[in-house]
Formats: sequence, C-alpha cells, structure tokens
Amino acid sequence: MTYELKKIAIVGAGGKMGMRISNNLQGSHYSVTYCENSPRAQEQILATGRTLSATNDVVPQADVVILAVPDVALETVSAQVVPQMKNGAILLTLDPAASYAGLLAQRDGIHQAVAHPCHPSVFLERYTKEEHADAFGGNAAVQDVCAAFESGNDKQRSELANIIAVMYGPVGVVHWVTVKQLAYLEPTLVETVACMVGSFMKEALDETINRIGLPEAAAKAMLYGHIQIALAVSFRSTNPFSDACMIAMEYGREQIIKPDWKKIFDEKELDLIIARMLKIDAVRKADAA
Ligand SMILES: NC(=O)c1ccc[n+]([C@@H]2O[C@H](COP(=O)([O-])OP(=O)(O)OC[C@H]3O[C@@H](n4cnc5c(N)ncnc54)[C@H](O)[C@@H]3O)[C@@H](O)[C@H]2O)c1
Repeated sequence: MTYELKKIAIVGAGGKMGMRISNNLQGSHYSVTYCENSPRAQEQILATGRTLSATNDVVPQADVVILAVPDVALETVSAQVVPQMKNGAILLTLDPAASYAGLLAQRDGIHQAVAHPCHPSVFLERYTKEEHADAFGGNAAVQDVCAAFESGNDKQRSELANIIAVMYGPVGVVHWVTVKQLAYLEPTLVETVACMVGSFMKEALDETINRIGLPEAAAKAMLYGHIQIALAVSFRSTNPFSDACMIAMEYGREQIIKPDWKKIFDEKELDLIIARMLKIDAVRKADAA
C-alpha cells in the first residue's frame, strides 16, 4: 500500500500520553521523532532508547505533528509549531477542549485532527491476564477511539485512522465525529458524569467503612459486585432491577441528583466547563464575532 503520512513528530513525547503513544509508534513502519522540553521527561525518553529531536528541526518535515502537551499549553505550542509545518500536514491533538475553544493556531493548508482514546469497554471480553490488567488501553486490551477530522480528504482520513490504530493500539473501531461532538463525549459524558460518579462511589464506600464501621473487605465485595450488576442491568437489560431496588434508586435520585442536571448538555454549559478546564475566560467561537 502507498501511504503519504509517513513522518510523525511527537511534541511532548516524555509526558504521560507522549510516552504511551511513543511506545506504540516506535518500531512501527512510521518514521517517528520525539520532542520534549522538560529535562526530567527527556531522561525518560532517552531511557527507552529513543533519541531526542528539536521541535524546530523536525516539524517542517513531518506529515503529522502530534501535540501531546498539556491542554493549557496548546495555544502557545500550536502557535510555535503551525507556522513551521509543511503544506498539507496534519496537526493532531489528543483532546477536543483546545480545538473546541478555538485556541489552536490555524493556517491555510494545515489540517487539524483530534483523537481521543475511549479506553477498553467495561463490557470487553478479556481473555488474558494482560488484557485484564490493561485498564487504560494502548497495551493489551482492545479499545475504540473517537476522532475528529473535519477538513482534508478521505485518503488522509483513512491514513490517519491507521496512525491512530497504531498509537492507541490495539484499536477496534475509530469513530469519526465532529470536534463539538467529541467535546460532548469528553468532558460532558465521560468526565462530568462517568468519572464523577466513579469517584462519588469511592466516597460512598469510604463513608460506609469509616462512618458506619463496616469491614472494608465486606463493603468492597458488596460494592464491586453491585457496580457490575448495576451496569449490566442499566446498559444491557440483563434482568430488571427488583421493585424494592427501584424504590431505593428513586430515593437516591431525589437525595443526590439535581432535577435540572441535564443542563450540562446545553451548549452554554459545555462552553463554561471547557473554559474552566483550560483556565481561560471564555471559549472563542468563529461564529461569535
Ligand atoms: N493523561 C491522560 O490520561 C490523557 C488521556 C487522553 C488524552 N490526554 C491528552 O493528552 C495530552 C497530553 O496530556 P498528558 O496528560 O500526557 O500531559 P503531561 O503533562 O503528562 O505531558 C505533557 C508533556 O509535554 C511536555 N511539554 C510541554 N510543553 C512542551 C513544549 N513546548 N515542547 C515540548 N514538550 C513540551 C511536558 O514537559 C510534558 O512532558 C492532553 O491534550 C490531554 O488532554 C491525556
């Protein structure tokens, strides 16, 4: 197969995501260069046997520049990198927030893409110890990826999907959505709701152990099993919740959830949370001028 997207530059290659995607891209058929500005993170890259490159040296040659830097740095780093990129190259970021907020430097001829890993599904059939141990994905357990690529052509999209499948591999499906849709997935659906509920359940577990005095092992056994069954019943209709359980659930809703909670899906709220995450006053929108 002939492919055009061969040279990849990773900026922020010594960070958490930078190391993960570098581990997967190293040894692939892509030509990959690694850029990092923190001395400690540079040492981590060197310890893996990879070599360091200067961003300004490799970006002008790259077909794809992956910015694995913190979201709050993306405005500055993209302003440095985008003017140096070659025509037709792709700027790939790993989270939709900065793109949605209009913080990324734009240039005619430079395409922008965002690819965010879904993490392996709670319903994934796992067979090996390695698959069971891989909660984050990118190692042994298959995960899907949600990605946005709103300019460029189908060939580039298909080549980009191949790169995404390597960097986050093993990957099942790359789901193409818009940047705005991706922002509704993360943060709204998975961070504002799912991660919040996860940490909320941990708080309830601590309260059960510390305030009520339940043995930790008993409380954990009861909760972990019920997390599994609650998800199976809610998402897969394996069997119905019992009548008494539904009364307790209704009580939980009344006590814990605000009646107007669905406003988190209002665009105004999405704008507010993205601005808060990026530590900016407000998101910038092309149609706001
Ligand atoms: N951490 C996660 O679980 C996770 C998951 C999915 C997506 N993401 C996204 O991945 C991106 C990176 O997040 P992270 O958690 O890996 O961040 P991180 O803070 O762990 O790493 C960022 C790295 O970028 C480096 N860096 C900063 N400015 C630089 C510059 N100008 N030149 C070269 N290197 C520079 C830093 O030194 C650091 O090593 C973000 O967009 C984030 O939203 C993170």
